[in-house]
Amino acid sequence: MTRFIEVIKNISKTFPLFLQSSKIYTIILLIIIPLQGILPAVSLWITKRIIDEVMNLSSSFTNHLVMLVIFWILFVLLTSLLSPLEMTFQGLMTDKMVSKLNINLMGKSNDLKGISYYESDTFYNDIQILEQEAAWRPVNLIVFTAGVLRSIITTVSMFILLSTFNIWISLFIIVSIIPQAIITYKLQKEAFETLVMRSPEARKMNYYSNVLLSKDYAQEVRLFNTSKFFIKKYLESFNRIHSNVKDVRFRQLIYSSIFTFIAVIGIGLSFWWIVKQVVIGNATAGDILIFSSAIILARQSLASMIEDSSLLYDTALYMEKYFNFMNLESDIVLDGKLRIEDSQINLEFNNVSFVYPNSKNMVLNNLSFNLRNGENLALVGENGSGKTTIIKLILRLYDPVKGSILLNGIDIRNYDIEDYRKLISTVFQDYSRYSLSFKENIILSDLNQNDKQRYGNIIESFDFSSLLNTFPNAEEQILSKSFEGGTELSSGQWQKISVARANYRDSKLLIMDEPSASLDAKNEEWLINNLESLGDSKTVLLVTHRLSALRIVDNIIYLKNGEITERGTVEELINNKEDFYKMYMMQKNKFKVKTSDVE
Ligand SMILES: Nc1ncnc2c1ncn2[C@@H]1O[C@H](COP(=O)(O)OP(=O)(O)OP(=O)(O)O)[C@@H](O)[C@H]1O
Ligand SMILES: [Mg+2]
Repeated sequence: MTRFIEVIKNISKTFPLFLQSSKIYTIILLIIIPLQGILPAVSLWITKRIIDEVMNLSSSFTNHLVMLVIFWILFVLLTSLLSPLEMTFQGLMTDKMVSKLNINLMGKSNDLKGISYYESDTFYNDIQILEQEAAWRPVNLIVFTAGVLRSIITTVSMFILLSTFNIWISLFIIVSIIPQAIITYKLQKEAFETLVMRSPEARKMNYYSNVLLSKDYAQEVRLFNTSKFFIKKYLESFNRIHSNVKDVRFRQLIYSSIFTFIAVIGIGLSFWWIVKQVVIGNATAGDILIFSSAIILARQSLASMIEDSSLLYDTALYMEKYFNFMNLESDIVLDGKLRIEDSQINLEFNNVSFVYPNSKNMVLNNLSFNLRNGENLALVGENGSGKTTIIKLILRLYDPVKGSILLNGIDIRNYDIEDYRKLISTVFQDYSRYSLSFKENIILSDLNQNDKQRYGNIIESFDFSSLLNTFPNAEEQILSKSFEGGTELSSGQWQKISVARANYRDSKLLIMDEPSASLDAKNEEWLINNLESLGDSKTVLLVTHRLSALRIVDNIIYLKNGEITERGTVEELINNKEDFYKMYMMQKNKFKVKTSDVE
């Protein structure tokens, strides 16, 4: 029952959304729908009056009869006009709702300043459902809400109509229909919960089909010939769900047959009663018509009310996810209001420890180090030692579990987050590839300034002109094959664009996480020189596995299992003869072997 109340609550919470999307369409629909609900009862009533009038007349039309016929025609006209009207306004309303919902979702995602929510499987899944289904859920919401409203009004009006004959008879009919309604509703709900509520099994099904259909996996699927494997996995999940649903469906069939039988007995007895009334002269022939039609209509509208409301239930689950998302608190503390006035960057890690949400492993353990203004600092260490995690903490994508990070002596949590992030530009290890134009891919990091000169400098210093010459649309070239006229780039070209994007941003601190992983030797050399030319104008934090880049850094921090084991200049760390030295020698020797091969 609490679940039911929850559903009703969620549906009622959607009404303000209708109004926010469009006041005028909501009002129009709120006029059309009740009218549609009440019209069948009114038409029936007029028909009955006409029949009774005709039966009482010997010949010739009375004015009254003419009026009734005209009314009847007018109501038929009105009924026929309302359907297309409703369709039109439902369509218009849907468009508005879709964009309203999407804009709200996008706006809300901007309020969540960290990324830790993405660490929860159910949450991540909910966000995906919200995003994917926002395009069509509002249609259901509108159509089914309208359907339920309309059938409630029709059912009630039929009930009132039947009550004019005999209140007990109408009660008797309604009561004989209700058990069927309830059981159908329950079973329908059960089927939905099994199939649609995105059970873990259903989520897996989604994933398996996605592997076979999406571009991301296309190469490997073809090479390793894994399609049969994924289809089999899909079918296994499907069969597990389907056996449950089949069970529900069969129960539905059995119950509804039994209850239909009971309902028909009730209806049959009532019908016998009204026929008897006509025979003994207590009712008219028109009464038989109105009575039988009202029973059929009441049954029909009750059935569609059940069907629509069970479909609405499914939509309510979606809206529940939507409202949950809209009510989320930001995952990182946003109390900081301090504006940043200092143009210097002095960053300090103070006994920082970190564990990822929903995980137990201590990724960073009591870490302390300084990054001074104008310094070029390198983070070096094995895979998984915590380098990228340090960057994420600096960017406040997560907050430390213990300890603090200070900027110019003040905890970064005290600064206004947008102000703070403005100071920093980053080339992420898993940088984004936007399906936008080449130019947009670069200026996206600093949209506030449309600085033609800075953009020109980037094109020049990154030597993009030869790449631009290969594009039919020059800098307006869309970099994605999923849009018309788009093209695709190589991994190295994409990485170079991500470095260019980070450099376009007017920032004090430049962080680069493996920026040359995909670059060729020439481009890497150029990148290092470019970094060197920044001099003291920028503070740089560089994560790299490539030793060649280390010649331009002032200091190196060597990380091992989330702890700093060595720090110093390149020379100092080499002389240390510890892990850094081993790594250094490994790379050096590898290089030597290759050159001796050539010799
Ligand atoms: N979102 C996450 N949830 C749980 N654990 C994570 C998450 N991201 C990373 N880790 C774990 O944290 C540790 C540090 O990861 P991190 O990405 O910081 O390593 P890294 O030093 O950047 O490695 P690489 O050189 O491969 O880029 C790893 O053991 C990794 O498995
Ligand atoms: Mg990393």
